[in-house]
Amino acid sequence: MKTLIKIFIFIFLATSIHIYPCEKILVIGTGYVGLVSGTCFAEKGNIVTCLDIDEEKINNLNSLIIPIYEPGLKELVEKNVKENKLIFTTDYKKAIKESNILFICAPTPSNEDGSCNLSYVKAIAKEIGKNIEEYKIIVTKSTVPVGTTFLIQKIIKKEISKREKDITFDVASNSEFLKEGEAIHDCLKPDRIVIGTENENVKNTLINIHKDFTNNLITMDILSAEITKYAANAMLALKISFMNQIANICKNVGANVENVKKGIGPDKRIGKHFLNAGIGYGGSCFPKDVQSLSFIAKDVNIEPTLLNAIHRVNEEQKELLARYIDNYFENRGGLKGRTFTIWGLSFKPNTDDMRNAPSLVIIDYLLKKGAILNLYDPIAMDNAKKILSNRENINWYSDPKDAAIGSDGIVLVTEWKEFNSIPLNEIKNTMNDPNIFDGRAFFNPKELKKMGFRYIGIGMPDEL
Ligand SMILES: NC(=O)c1ccc[n+]([C@@H]2O[C@H](COP(=O)([O-])OP(=O)(O)OC[C@H]3O[C@@H](n4cnc5c(N)ncnc54)[C@H](O)[C@@H]3O)[C@@H](O)[C@H]2O)c1
Repeated sequence: MKTLIKIFIFIFLATSIHIYPCEKILVIGTGYVGLVSGTCFAEKGNIVTCLDIDEEKINNLNSLIIPIYEPGLKELVEKNVKENKLIFTTDYKKAIKESNILFICAPTPSNEDGSCNLSYVKAIAKEIGKNIEEYKIIVTKSTVPVGTTFLIQKIIKKEISKREKDITFDVASNSEFLKEGEAIHDCLKPDRIVIGTENENVKNTLINIHKDFTNNLITMDILSAEITKYAANAMLALKISFMNQIANICKNVGANVENVKKGIGPDKRIGKHFLNAGIGYGGSCFPKDVQSLSFIAKDVNIEPTLLNAIHRVNEEQKELLARYIDNYFENRGGLKGRTFTIWGLSFKPNTDDMRNAPSLVIIDYLLKKGAILNLYDPIAMDNAKKILSNRENINWYSDPKDAAIGSDGIVLVTEWKEFNSIPLNEIKNTMNDPNIFDGRAFFNPKELKKMGFRYIGIGMPDEL
């Protein structure tokens, strides 16, 4: 009887506490992807070391100062550090020794010509080769051109052979699909996880550490896994550029892109998601990945006509709202000396990331035309200041309402939710000229017009 009770207690504890797999994981590169995925691996019960060459970042993380804004991240880092499952270091030798699976989360920015800069990935591969002493699984999580995982393998082998050692290791691909602003959710509950390897043991190990995240684990060869990430980002960028082109047609024929969106979304072949027209995509992924895929295509003699068009439409779209403002004031004395309020600076809401933010293109355009700009963002102000600190005619505001006082127009650039709760009817009376230039189809044009605003938006007829 006693044994039976013990078995029951064991089963109860095993199912309620959830027995997670426990691996020793090293994440190399503690940025948006490395920090989030490392923290999520720890949350699932693994012992995780996050390594970076940026000593200040690691010192800050060891004092629980989080380098990026990502909803829910701070709490999760704190929890897992307290539970001794999450460690931060700059020490390659020790970190590699103490881990079984290594994830490379290095930046892969664009070179000037748009091709992928692999210098960070290569540097990490070299460090692994210099410090590895026994078998490890080495996984590419960075978005990398097809064949890079094998290049990493080659670099590591070369470094090992320089040391005249005989150490075995395996490589695999496991690109990350999280989106900034919802990164914790995406990482803990992803739509799918793509694992690229043809080695059964590696496949089983990677399935084992991921099976608690989702049932949708897709395994394939390394090259297909690498290009899958680019295909996903290019498809999403394509949807954005497509809707933006439709929006521009809508405006000129007097139609409303928001209605078109409602009309096409229910078609299951199209889908309701990701159909928002706006001022173009930004951030650290879509722009560089579309361009990088173009280079991959050219390398194998495929003319990337469509990929180039996605990029071109996007570049033009980023300037469009500024051009609408310019056109509107053309016969009203021009932009010189006029004040505009920019609401939202980050490339999208819920992140402080300013990389390739469309706001920068709009700001640059308006400043060059002699405008004065009052800038406000709920979270990205510090990062924006680092980029714009040498520009004249910029005023920084910590309250969006104050930023609108005396202004000739509010320019809605990033659709932060908080802009919904601003009493626009009160603000109108504080402005010099009550114009709203809406880059995200965020406001209801009819309501704004009733309040006495002039509304100009992407994909909307000027007269509604
Ligand atoms: N940011 C995203 O939303 C996102 C989403 C999916 C995939 N990705 C991909 O993930 C990769 C990483 O992107 P990110 O946004 O996290 O980059 P990031 O710039 O935020 O972080 C990269 C980190 O790597 C560190 N680093 C650079 N060289 C190093 C070295 N030699 N050793 C150790 N650390 C080093 C940097 O100091 C930095 O902290 C890229 O390939 C990107 O395309 C990014």
